[in-house]
Amino acid sequence: MPTDATAPSTAPSSTPAAPARTAVITGASSGIGAATARRLAAEGYRVVLTARRKDRVEALAAELTEAGHRAEAHALDVTDRAAVDAFAGGLDRCDVLVNNAGGALGTDPIAEADPADWRAMYEVNVLGVLHTTQALLPALVASGDGTVLILSSTAGLGTYEGGGGYVAAKHGAHAIAETLRLELCGQPVRVIEIAPGMVKTEEFALTRFRGDREKAAKVYAGVAEPLTADDVADTIAWAVTRPAHVNVDLLVLRPRAQASNYKVHREN
Ligand SMILES: NC(=O)c1ccc[n+]([C@@H]2O[C@H](COP(=O)([O-])OP(=O)(O)OC[C@H]3O[C@@H](n4cnc5c(N)ncnc54)[C@H](OP(=O)(O)O)[C@@H]3O)[C@@H](O)[C@H]2O)c1
Repeated sequence: MPTDATAPSTAPSSTPAAPARTAVITGASSGIGAATARRLAAEGYRVVLTARRKDRVEALAAELTEAGHRAEAHALDVTDRAAVDAFAGGLDRCDVLVNNAGGALGTDPIAEADPADWRAMYEVNVLGVLHTTQALLPALVASGDGTVLILSSTAGLGTYEGGGGYVAAKHGAHAIAETLRLELCGQPVRVIEIAPGMVKTEEFALTRFRGDREKAAKVYAGVAEPLTADDVADTIAWAVTRPAHVNVDLLVLRPRAQASNYKVHREN
C-alpha cells in the first residue's frame, strides 16, 4: 500500500483551486456595465457585478450563472469609501477593474447650474473611480497582469454648452487615466480609457433629465443608429483581451452619425 507520501497523483488534492481570472465591473445594473458583464463573462472571466441596486445585479449574476458562466453580485455605492474598502477586502482576486459607474445630472448652463448636481457628478464619476482603483490596486498588481479600465466620455475630451458639470467630471476621469498610467509605468498594470460619444442606453438620458422621458428621447431623436451598450461592451472586451503588453491608452468611439459633440446627423 502506498503511504501518504507516495499516494498516487490521482488522489484528490487538498489544495484549493486558484480563483478564476476576475473582472470587477462597477455600475453593472444597467446599460454599458451590464452589457460589459455579459461580454466579459463570455470571454471566460469570473465577473463580479456591483451597483447600488442589488436586485438588478443579483438577477444578472443569476442569469449568467444559469448560462454556465461564473458571476457574483454585490451591492456597492462607489461614492462610499468604507463600503468600497470592505468590498475589496473580501475579494480573493482581481485582474480587471472596469470603472463604469457614472452619469450626468442636468443640462443647465453654468450660470444657473445647481452645485449639488456638480458635487454628485464629481462624487460618482471622479471619486468613485478613485475609491475603487485605490482599493483594488494591490490585487491588480498582485495579479501580475492587471487592467484598470476607465469609462470616461467624449465629454471628458471636449466641452459643450449645458454640459458643464458632467464635462468637468469626465475631464476629471480622463485626468485620472492619464496620471495613473504615468504613475504605474513599470508595474504590471495597464490603464485603458474608453471614451464613447452618444450611446443609447435605457437610463443614461433618463437620469440626466430626472425621469422626463420626452426630454430623454429627444437626445436620440432622428439619429439612425446611436451606439448601443453592446457596441461599447464589445470595444471594452477587445481592449481588455489584447495581449498584456498592449495598452490601448485611449479609444474614442462614436456612432457614424455623430462627427463631434456638436455635429450629429438627424434624419427628418
Ligand atoms: N450613454 C451615453 O451616452 C454615455 C456616453 C459616454 C459615456 N457614458 C458613461 O458610461 C457609463 C455607463 O453609462 P450608461 O449609459 O450605461 O448609463 P446607465 O444605464 O445610467 O448606467 C449607470 C450605471 O452606474 C451605476 N451607478 C450610478 N451611480 C452609482 C454609484 N454611486 N455607485 C455605484 N454605481 C452607480 C448605476 O447603477 P445603480 O443605480 O444601480 O447604482 C448604473 O448601473 C457612465 O460612466 C457614463 O457616464 C455614457
